[in-house]
Amino acid sequence: MIGSGMVFDSLPLLAELAGLVSQWSVEANISNADEALTLVSSVDGDLVQAMTAIEKTLMVSTGTRKLTQAERQSIQNLHLRLTKSNIVDSSSSTASPYSRGTNAVAGMLGLVEGPAILVQDQGQLCTAQIPEPQSPSETFKMGNSVLPRIFSGLWQLSSPAWGSASASKINDQFSKHIQSGFTAFDMADHYGDAEVIFGSFRSSFPHKHAIFAATKLCVFQRMTVSQEAIAANIGERCRRLQQQKLDLLQFHWQHYDNLEYLDALRHIVQDPRVGMVGLCNFDTTNMQRVVDEGIKIHSNQVQFSLVDSRPVERMGTFCVQHNIKLLTYGTLCGGFLSDKWLDKPEPGLYGGDITPSQRKYFSMICNWGGWALFQELLQVLSEIAEKHKVSISNVATRWVLDFPYVGAVIVGARMGVSDHSDDNTASFGWRLNEQDQAGIENILQKSRRVQIFEQIGDCGAEYRS
Ligand SMILES: NC(=O)c1ccc[n+]([C@@H]2O[C@H](COP(=O)([O-])OP(=O)(O)OC[C@H]3O[C@@H](n4cnc5c(N)ncnc54)[C@H](OP(=O)(O)O)[C@@H]3O)[C@@H](O)[C@H]2O)c1
Repeated sequence: MIGSGMVFDSLPLLAELAGLVSQWSVEANISNADEALTLVSSVDGDLVQAMTAIEKTLMVSTGTRKLTQAERQSIQNLHLRLTKSNIVDSSSSTASPYSRGTNAVAGMLGLVEGPAILVQDQGQLCTAQIPEPQSPSETFKMGNSVLPRIFSGLWQLSSPAWGSASASKINDQFSKHIQSGFTAFDMADHYGDAEVIFGSFRSSFPHKHAIFAATKLCVFQRMTVSQEAIAANIGERCRRLQQQKLDLLQFHWQHYDNLEYLDALRHIVQDPRVGMVGLCNFDTTNMQRVVDEGIKIHSNQVQFSLVDSRPVERMGTFCVQHNIKLLTYGTLCGGFLSDKWLDKPEPGLYGGDITPSQRKYFSMICNWGGWALFQELLQVLSEIAEKHKVSISNVATRWVLDFPYVGAVIVGARMGVSDHSDDNTASFGWRLNEQDQAGIENILQKSRRVQIFEQIGDCGAEYRS
């Protein structure tokens, strides 16, 4: 219902479900405590996803419309059920079972209780002795910031389809990433509660100066640009992130035939609450338009991996000429480029273990050359990995990092669900030699990499076909 345009109808059912699961989890004995926690986290994720779906329904050509009376009432009813029926016990010192969901619901109503619930969850974090984060061992400069060459991507927080975790588990893992030198995070206006949960974490983190948050302003619908609508969107990003100034705001614009995106970018660049401005999924032609207008752009976020090397065709040269850094996603194909998938049969796409990112990148693997060739690639990567005493994922990351126009690889992180931060530090501090490159190139020559560029188009075209 949430994903099929019936989100408001789903709210009474969600309230009912939250009540039942909460009651059962309290009664659950020790032997199924883990199961109870997983179920509670999953319902918490559903609540967040419902609020994200509502945000999407509120988007109109002039920005975001207000809730109608009836819509507000149904969200209020859900909020009431969550807060006043002992589902969320605000007097308890332990973490609230639905802190992410309640926070998202309260945020939708413009209430202040929400953030307080998350802060309560973070009591341990605030008081614990947290050492100064390690400096990342490989960095690049963008504007005045020195940033790690791996960002941690938070798209994975946007839906329980990646697995869900409680706010406190997520916070622990934010902390772990930062301690490992992964101090930069990528999120977006439409990644569920990623901005809110990260903003709440950061505001109570003792070394917040060491953290860098990149978020996005995405315009997917047809829009008439106004300074007010852009300013309101920026204000919303600041509110959710609990920051007065955004470190990096990346702009996505869906319909290139409407050149108002240049006006939108001018408003963004002129807004004092925006630090650096980046693009997201822009192709080279439209980046050129932006640059020709004299609009200062620091980065473009695009898909770039061993199976999608479209940036090499046109964008790379343009980025070098204009000192624009690529921030890349899909570099690990949602985890397919890892030891875990070596010698494995082609996955069933709707199996329980397959994540939404893997569904996205599996079709790229098929376009690129298919599963059999992909296995040949994994075999070669595995031999290189063994030689350098690293993992396949490290080699796949390194291959992208070695392009001079790549600032950082964004590695998706299922915060609180899986953790590869220790392994990912091994992507730094070494390079692929000529022999390694030749072995990889040998496989890539058998692929359809050039046809992909010709058929799909330049970077970002896959979202616009
Ligand atoms: N602008 C856009 O259109 C766009 C689109 C997609 C993504 N993004 C951004 O890019 C980020 C990256 O996400 P993605 O979907 O492209 O995924 P990805 O980074 O290609 O893959 C992430 C997955 O790789 C696995 N992994 C990570 N490190 C590993 C290691 N060292 N060893 C083995 N496996 C490892 C993990 O899988 P398991 O958890 O299963 O272990 C992880 O969930 C997103 O979070 C988002 O910030 C942007």
